[in-house]
Amino acid sequence: MPDTRLAVIVGANRGLGLGLTGELLSRGYEVIATARDLAKAQALEKLAKQFGDRLRRMRLDLNDQGLADAFAGQVGHAKLDLLFLNAGVAGPADRTAQDVTIAETGALFYTNAVAPVRLARTLMDRMREPDAVIAFMTSIMGSVALNTEGGAELYRASKAALNSLTRSFAAGLRGRPIAVLSFHPGWVRTDMGGEHAPLDVETSVRGIADVLERERGRPGHRFLDYTGHELPW
Ligand SMILES: NC(=O)c1ccc[n+]([C@@H]2O[C@H](COP(=O)([O-])OP(=O)(O)OC[C@H]3O[C@@H](n4cnc5c(N)ncnc54)[C@H](OP(=O)(O)O)[C@@H]3O)[C@@H](O)[C@H]2O)c1
Repeated sequence: MPDTRLAVIVGANRGLGLGLTGELLSRGYEVIATARDLAKAQALEKLAKQFGDRLRRMRLDLNDQGLADAFAGQVGHAKLDLLFLNAGVAGPADRTAQDVTIAETGALFYTNAVAPVRLARTLMDRMREPDAVIAFMTSIMGSVALNTEGGAELYRASKAALNSLTRSFAAGLRGRPIAVLSFHPGWVRTDMGGEHAPLDVETSVRGIADVLERERGRPGHRFLDYTGHELPW
């Protein structure tokens, strides 16, 4: 067991990813935090002043396949205790299957569903077994079982697709001792969640960090909210 755990958080320059980066740093982790544009990642810069070289910042756009494939090389040789695929987009929120374009559909599903799993496959041999965790930020809106009201149907479908791809990814680990978690962070006040969301970032990420702690060393794939409550697929 290393003295310091190493985490990669993808999409860490604002919102939940930024909050989780701060939470894990304050719990003693080393964190590699990614942003699409480091020049605009001032909040991460502030954390770097506070936590020094325990925070490394790297540029990563999930939709740039070359950058994503090269990312594993830039991470270095150290084993990862946690890989957290947090990045996501709301997509064309006002559209439905009737009026969305093919390009918009492709961008939404690639960013939210395909790209996170693609990067997880690129990095899965870098995980420190047996206690590593690979986590995906999905949403309760991706639950097919709980979708009784509809609305935001394209975003919902992209997160359901993420959940399905994550299950295929987890199955492909073939019993390797890695916990694969699909997280619902709650409805949180971020750029995506909006100002009327009931939860603040700090409460959500504190809960997620507690659940990560609890789930380490428990292989398999689970859909959990930020309190650790299990959700139906
Ligand atoms: N807030 C909620 O209530 C809520 C509820 C359920 C699930 N979620 C999920 O939680 C995750 C974080 O959401 P949030 O509320 O923190 O949203 P947010 O404030 O909009 O932040 C989204 C993050 O994802 C990054 N990102 C977007 N596209 C990317 C790409 N192609 N490559 C790399 N990074 C990319 C953004 O980077 P830029 O700054 O460069 O755009 C930003 O860091 C998302 O997956 C979201 O679907 C949120």
